[in-house]
Amino acid sequence: MAPFPEALNEQVAREFAASQQYVAIAVHYDAETLPGLAAHFYRQAVEERNHAMMIVQYLLDADAPVVIPGVEAPRTDFPDAIAPVRLALDQERQVTEQISALVRLARDEGDLVGEQFLHWFLEEQREEVSSMSALLATVERAAGNMLLVEDYLARRGGSGEEAVSQAPPAAGGAL
Ligand SMILES: [Fe+2]
Ligand SMILES: [Fe+2]
Repeated sequence: MAPFPEALNEQVAREFAASQQYVAIAVHYDAETLPGLAAHFYRQAVEERNHAMMIVQYLLDADAPVVIPGVEAPRTDFPDAIAPVRLALDQERQVTEQISALVRLARDEGDLVGEQFLHWFLEEQREEVSSMSALLATVERAAGNMLLVEDYLARRGGSGEEAVSQAPPAAGGAL
């Protein structure tokens, strides 16, 4: 497989792994009876799954090989209520680095169509790092009183995310 399609296949695995990690965080909060936090992370899990399927659709369109990957196991044990959000923000920052590396690879290979496809992901990462930073700030300020965080999420409503531009199509349709 050429380097760029191969790297995109690896990103499919990382997006699915991110999805699994968010399911694990959502279930952790759900078990603690924190439904607002649980709902937030269940929704993030679906978004990450959609990111994976957008890359799958791109590979299909580009007539490149697609290998649906096994996925690294998520972390499921957390020392305190803040740790999952901190992990989530770290994960989003890592994904931003990964997408940036993919953009550089596409550019080095002169694959402008591939590079253009990734621009939406850069925009999405800016938004996700920003909204996860805001959630971490809120959780830290609540200093262990997670009901304050639940209250904040309920008042805020929605996903707390600003709209980014039109997402690329996902294989089988976005959920
Ligand atoms: Fe993602
Ligand atoms: Fe994300």
